[in-house]
Amino acid sequence: MPCECCNITNEQFGKDTAEADLKAYRRTGPAKHTRLILEAIRSLGLTDASLLDVGGGIGAIYHELMQDTVTRATHVDASSAYLAAAKRETEKRGNGGKVEFIHADFTDVADSLAPANVVTLDRVVCCYPDFRSLLAAAAGRSSRALVMAYPRDNRFSRAVVALMDWFLKMSRDPFRVFVHPVGEMDALLNKEGLYRVSLRRSFIWEVALYQRA
Ligand SMILES: C[S@@+](CC[C@H](N)C(=O)[O-])C[C@H]1O[C@@H](n2cnc3c(N)ncnc32)[C@H](O)[C@@H]1O
Repeated sequence: MPCECCNITNEQFGKDTAEADLKAYRRTGPAKHTRLILEAIRSLGLTDASLLDVGGGIGAIYHELMQDTVTRATHVDASSAYLAAAKRETEKRGNGGKVEFIHADFTDVADSLAPANVVTLDRVVCCYPDFRSLLAAAAGRSSRALVMAYPRDNRFSRAVVALMDWFLKMSRDPFRVFVHPVGEMDALLNKEGLYRVSLRRSFIWEVALYQRA
């Protein structure tokens, strides 16, 4: 964990959060934004695919896709607590050995990873200040598609995030949430050869599927 921002992220997503998320997943399945990501990936009709899940949390995306789409996955996460919970669930499902777990800031290790058919970032870009480095690194590892969920870029989410960041600042928590400009993220991915083929929305989140031209 060399970078300061990654240490902050590791602190933010600790054991209690990871255990609560795993419990919720076991009780009710994937959250709405994750379900939209799963639908986007399944729309590609892939089988025997490889997945690179950046900031995958408890690993809901590959737990689900290993039923029909994905046969191997790499999960890179800044949170050691999330990785531990994801690993436990992977083993419980009999998929141990099919997933590689890496505790790191993805931008530090991306170059050392093999490309995957699909790269996912489910609510990750909004935790990271430098979306350009994060998305360029993610695009560079994707051979076919990239799917991401991020907060909708509108006045409402900007106001909510500004309030959240104000509370974090007041409680001297160095973690921050970001609403990054969707147009700039889109232009960056286009430059990397990825083009948006679908866009789905929930009240707060937007899920964009990109495919290589
Ligand atoms: C809000 S959580 C989302 C977890 C999960 N994807 C979900 O939607 O439930 C953000 C996740 O991104 C990870 N993360 C943020 N920046 C990262 C980075 N630069 N490299 C690796 N993981 C990162 C955090 O550790 C955390 O697991």
